[in-house]
Amino acid sequence: MKNYAIALIPGDGIGRDVTDAAWAVLEAAARHSDFALSGTRYPWSCAYYKETGAMMPADGIKTLGKFDAILLGAVGWPAEVPDAVSLHGLLLPIRKGFTQYANVRPHRLLPGVNGPLKTTEFDILCIRENTEGEYSGAGGRVHQGTSGEIAVETSVFTRAGVERILRYGFDQARKRRGKLASVTKSNAQKYSMVFWDEVTRLVAADYPDVECTSYHVDALAARMVMAPESLDVVVASNLFGDILTDLGAAIQGGLGFAASANINPERGAPSMFEPVHGSAPDITHLGTANPIAAIWSGAMMLEHLGESDAAARVMTSLAATTSHGIGTVPGKERTEAITAAVLSRLS
Ligand code: IPM
Ligand code: MN
Repeated sequence: MKNYAIALIPGDGIGRDVTDAAWAVLEAAARHSDFALSGTRYPWSCAYYKETGAMMPADGIKTLGKFDAILLGAVGWPAEVPDAVSLHGLLLPIRKGFTQYANVRPHRLLPGVNGPLKTTEFDILCIRENTEGEYSGAGGRVHQGTSGEIAVETSVFTRAGVERILRYGFDQARKRRGKLASVTKSNAQKYSMVFWDEVTRLVAADYPDVECTSYHVDALAARMVMAPESLDVVVASNLFGDILTDLGAAIQGGLGFAASANINPERGAPSMFEPVHGSAPDITHLGTANPIAAIWSGAMMLEHLGESDAAARVMTSLAATTSHGIGTVPGKERTEAITAAVLSRLS
């Protein structure tokens, strides 16, 4: 029997509650199937930082490297640790360290979930570049604290990085409805974004069966609201993808429903699965965090591991749960109650 080793990093705030929920559902899905999951928990978080002075141990990436996948809850507790410290100490080093260059975020409405748009007929797969671009980390500050202070933060776009994310997007489009939207701002950013458009045209030539359109990010944002049904796969740079996927979360009913996968497509290192929402300090003490985004992310993990049947069964039980109105209204049910409802519908 296959046994997958999974690293669990619940992290901060509601990340702990939703990771417990997702793990319970994944373990149940494994029990109904012919594979096993072994979870190893790591307490890496802002609380861990307060104790040790680091978000994870110096050999944290090496430790995670031996797992088949990573399930992460949320990172950040800004009242105690600045976000720029916590995220650069845990989440972002994992994405970059394991070359998880494809951040995959599905945006569609689960049955019974009310989105803010008139249309309910959309199914968008956002593919966000996850290792470079605006998040390259290249920059600096000089003359700090003086009136002559300067801050520079440079976006870095490499041919290898842009080409691989586009190829990943085209491959996904081929498996879906055969449409790809490549997102830039090449009317204003004349080096990096013109370059991205050029690489898009080169890669598109290898996929004549995929209908490829380049959009400016501002127009694409409007299209996600006005005509989301016209979109299939959307490929964007790190920051543009970050912003567009919060918009995607909004049109699918909120961050409680937005799942994500940080994928290393070559499988040379573990991929990481996490809900798009953060640690939500404002609702952490209430016990009503919606576990659906985390459970959906867990289904994406099963799919990545090759357990497509189990992944589909988790998605079916999620849909059956929301179609009964459970987990669809923020704060209405407790996290455990939503999780129990999903578990009871899992076959
Ligand atoms: C996300 C988050 C992160 C990001 C933050 C917490 C650094 O917003 O996963 O979308 O910008 O990538
Ligand atoms: Mn974000």
